[in-house]
Amino acid sequence: MSFKIRKAKIDDLKAFVEVYKSAYQKMQEYAYTKEKDIKHYFKWLLKRDANGFFVAEVEEKPVGFIACDAYWHNFFDESMGEIHEIVVEKGYTGKGIGKKLIEVAEEYLKGRGYKKIGLWVGEKNHEAKKFYEKLGYKEGEKFGKWIRMIKSIE
Ligand SMILES: CC(C)(COP(=O)(O)OP(=O)(O)OC[C@H]1O[C@@H](n2cnc3c(N)ncnc32)[C@H](O)[C@@H]1OP(=O)(O)O)[C@@H](O)C(=O)NCCC(=O)NCCS
Repeated sequence: MSFKIRKAKIDDLKAFVEVYKSAYQKMQEYAYTKEKDIKHYFKWLLKRDANGFFVAEVEEKPVGFIACDAYWHNFFDESMGEIHEIVVEKGYTGKGIGKKLIEVAEEYLKGRGYKKIGLWVGEKNHEAKKFYEKLGYKEGEKFGKWIRMIKSIE
């Protein structure tokens, strides 16, 4: 399946809500469930770092998003850039879209001078954990129901 990656924009709000809801259907304990909250989250991500927010499209239809943050302050490690979110719509998973989104995010954060990438994943979100591990992320500290995943991009 061929897909294109471009920067996300405010007009993607509606598509983000749909992709996000579909991606987290079975993992709701780690996600916003109210439409109002998902919209607010989208706007927050875009405001944090619009240049690091990407969308994957199949025939002009948004099917995946990744939101990085080159301005996030990691208190204990300033060489670490952050990925806040990655979602691929159900029905489009397992086709390499998530992997490509992560590669684009890593390239972006590397270009901003970061040497590592960190993100949080739900402890019972085994599928996402396997996905990250496959892409070179290592399990770190646990904080409540969240697990830190870290990758060196030097
Ligand atoms: C996690 C997620 C983004 C993966 O996206 P995807 O497009 O299906 O991933 P890809 O097809 O690019 O897979 C990349 C690699 O990870 C592996 N992988 C993906 N999902 C996997 C799974 N459930 N179990 C084992 N391996 C998996 C693939 O086999 C692939 O390996 P390969 O390159 O050797 O073939 C997607 O499943 C998703 O949106 N999940 C729900 C939302 C979520 O949990 N987001 C993360 C929040 S922290």
